[in-house]
Amino acid sequence: MPANKPKFYLTTPIYYTNGLPHIGHTYSTIVCDTIRRYKRMRGYDVVMTTGTDEHGVNVERSAKKAGVAESEFVGKMAAEWRALWDELGVQGDEFIRTTDLKHAHTVQWLFKQCRDNGFVYPGHYTGQYCIYDNAYVDVKPGENCPDCGRPTETVTEANFYFKLSAFQKPLLDWYAKHPNFIQPEARRNEVLSFVEGGLRDLSITRTSVRWGIPVPGEEPHVFYVWFDALTAYLSAVGGPQYEKTGFWPADLHLVGKEIIRFHAVYWPAFLMAAGLPLPKQVWAHGWLLMDSAKMSKSLGNVVRPRPIVHVLGMDALRYYLLRETVFGQDGNFSYDALVQRYNSDLANGLGNLASRTLTMIEKYFDGRIPEPGASPSNEEGFYGGVREFAEKLARNDGTEVGHSILWRYDNLHFSNALEAIWSLISLVDSFLSSKKPWALAEDQDKRSQLSAVLYTAAEALRFAAVLSYPVLPDSTIKLWKQLGQSSPLSEQRIDGLVWGQLKPGVTISRAETLFPRIEKAEAIERMEAMEREEQKQPSPVTAPAASPVSTPVAGGAAAAAAPAAAEKIGIEDFAKVEMRVGQIKTAERIVGADKLLKLTVDIGTEIRQICAGIAQYYEPEKLIGRKVAVVVNLAPRKLRGVESNGMIIAASVGPEGRPVLAGFPDEDVEIGARLK
Ligand code: MSP
Repeated sequence: MPANKPKFYLTTPIYYTNGLPHIGHTYSTIVCDTIRRYKRMRGYDVVMTTGTDEHGVNVERSAKKAGVAESEFVGKMAAEWRALWDELGVQGDEFIRTTDLKHAHTVQWLFKQCRDNGFVYPGHYTGQYCIYDNAYVDVKPGENCPDCGRPTETVTEANFYFKLSAFQKPLLDWYAKHPNFIQPEARRNEVLSFVEGGLRDLSITRTSVRWGIPVPGEEPHVFYVWFDALTAYLSAVGGPQYEKTGFWPADLHLVGKEIIRFHAVYWPAFLMAAGLPLPKQVWAHGWLLMDSAKMSKSLGNVVRPRPIVHVLGMDALRYYLLRETVFGQDGNFSYDALVQRYNSDLANGLGNLASRTLTMIEKYFDGRIPEPGASPSNEEGFYGGVREFAEKLARNDGTEVGHSILWRYDNLHFSNALEAIWSLISLVDSFLSSKKPWALAEDQDKRSQLSAVLYTAAEALRFAAVLSYPVLPDSTIKLWKQLGQSSPLSEQRIDGLVWGQLKPGVTISRAETLFPRIEKAEAIERMEAMEREEQKQPSPVTAPAASPVSTPVAGGAAAAAAPAAAEKIGIEDFAKVEMRVGQIKTAERIVGADKLLKLTVDIGTEIRQICAGIAQYYEPEKLIGRKVAVVVNLAPRKLRGVESNGMIIAASVGPEGRPVLAGFPDEDVEIGARLK
């Protein structure tokens, strides 16, 4: 990979893990994946980040309901999200989880920068909080959330404030200087009037929430979900060391329109406060509606992507989502329109043209790409303008930009880009119908005309494959191979298409049907039946069966989750436990808890407060400086009212279970090193 490739960094929102993906989420992710593939084909070194937003009260409650620890809950849910993106051919380069250590480290670092620069102060807050949207909302007690319509809760708590009010002018200046920062125009206007109306300081930590990233030295404060979540974009590309990766600032944050304010107001303000570069653009797309309402779990009108992929294939879903809705506006989803598009554009359009052309090449030219020839008859317009149209679509010279596919992709006019590619497909179809190659084949004297016609159709198909690859990665790769191409399609330059590069003589492969036609009623029935089955499936996170024998041992909660002695775990289960070398910095007894010591432990990336049940066997002062093994990804909990964020490993010796700290007496180990 040449070192001088320009870099491009784009992101999807990171999705909440208290639910599973529906096609609304799928939409954002597929759009991003399309841009990612397109940018690669334009020669960029691209990083695309997606991931999961795993903290907050919602997760605490869902995990409790499922009867599992929060870490287990989010671990399983994140795995589900990831698996779905794989099935949809989404090639995320970074999958960031807000429970990743590197992310916690970045959030804590960002907070410190903001605080050191004077933009953070302590205070108290009372307000109506929507636990579903994870946001305080501007309503009276007893009123429902204005965004999602669900009940709000009155919350009073000590917290840290971010001085958002100080950023009104800097933000307005930034928007004025960077008119494309917020897209589309309507969203930009909405944000401008919000900021012009004045900004109130923002509470960025919570003391009422347990499941979150701790604010170092300020426990039990944890970060408020948006300060936490937005920072994921930075954690994914190096965090505090972002300069080393070269991918910050982001080129594009792609989000749904309901979260534009967080991205176009709060996020740039946090970054300004920390003295960091701002992203180049935030693009807010519209919603997929079902029966005219936003598809959402709470309304019970969601459509899952799997049944569609199963019945029609992943490209059908990708095509439909990008073709049917004008990007930026809301769009309606219907199975009927989906199958209609599939049959008319994919099966009868691209699929049929490919099959027609390749079958004739097989039949008349022994399966080899024929010679392009010159118009053998010199007939005016012999090629039906196919070549000119294809070249116009692939144009990259800055002229007639409105017609070029590159311009349309660059401006995220996906529907329009596909429409134009499909005009090429129809043009070639009519060209074949008017030239009647099957009739030309009857006449030996018309051999060169036959050759020219089929070459033209095949070359146009090559153009169509390259131009539509970002949207249809699966089927265009098949078509590419059918055309006898061996170099990877994903590595073709979309801006380097030159007519006539399809080599005559190359052997094509037998034409597998790209999109088999399907009867509409049958397809819908199958998808709906699968959808109903999916809805019936138990959540991927269900309560573990109660253990028949429970042996209370030192270590409490952690030990209670241990598997029965005979049961083996896989290495991947072991890998979930993150243990690191820590160094004890302070140690003190806890009044009223004679077995516990309160420790602060340096784990390399942060200082943690951890309680350990070792007070009867270890003198606090003798522990200072001692290196210990720490489980760092254990969900924080309170022991005798004191927050404990991690666990120190100790052997349990003798019948009374005397704790003996695990340590590293023989060699000097680095603080933060991982135990494996
Ligand atoms: N976790 C936050 C985002 C944090 S980003 C730092 C969040 N998560 S979410 O799971 O609710 O996902 C929201 C995103 O999913 C929307 O912004 C949008 O991109 C996508 N969509 C969810 N439902 C949608 C539709 N019905 N239609 C289109 N996109 C939708 O908010």
